[in-house]
Amino acid sequence: MVVIDAGGVAGAVGRDEALALYEAVGWSAYTKDPDGLVRALAGSTLVATARDGDRLVGLARVVTDGASILYLQDVLVHPDAQRTGLGRRLVSALLDAYPDVRQKVLLTDDEPAQKAFYESLGFGDTRDVHGGVLRTFVRFD
Ligand SMILES: CC(C)(COP(=O)(O)OP(=O)(O)OC[C@H]1O[C@@H](n2cnc3c(N)ncnc32)[C@H](O)[C@@H]1OP(=O)(O)O)[C@@H](O)C(=O)NCCC(=O)NCCS
Repeated sequence: MVVIDAGGVAGAVGRDEALALYEAVGWSAYTKDPDGLVRALAGSTLVATARDGDRLVGLARVVTDGASILYLQDVLVHPDAQRTGLGRRLVSALLDAYPDVRQKVLLTDDEPAQKAFYESLGFGDTRDVHGGVLRTFVRFD
């Protein structure tokens, strides 16, 4: 049975198991900088983990002020555990912790699977919500 724990902050995820999970989904932007990944996890407001026994099979994290804005970052499920509902359970567990935060934002690849996943959770492309009047801006340094 896979157990979801959404009470985690710094220290909830070990460095090696985090690296293994991020490697499993091919996220080299993180895995080429392991210390940065550890800092990112430690600095997150809330981290949700999915464990099958001791094995980390999924992770999602949130950065938020707890009142007005919440960024959902890094939802990832090990390939051999995908499409079993873990991604949905991870995100739901995180969002349930912030029922009063109205604005929930995320950035993801323009791929059909991600679109289907986030739409299944009630997220919409900024071009499609509020009558299409919103735009998203991002800067990478
Ligand atoms: C995207 C990701 C997190 C989804 O996690 P998951 O545990 O496989 O998703 P779930 O089983 O909870 O799926 C929930 C719903 O999302 C949709 N969905 C998820 N993956 C999908 C896919 N590959 N194709 C189409 N729809 C999909 C479906 O509606 C699904 O419900 P259903 O299975 O009842 O039809 C997972 O595929 C993953 O880790 N991918 C690699 C990392 C990544 O791209 N993360 C997202 C960007 S931050």
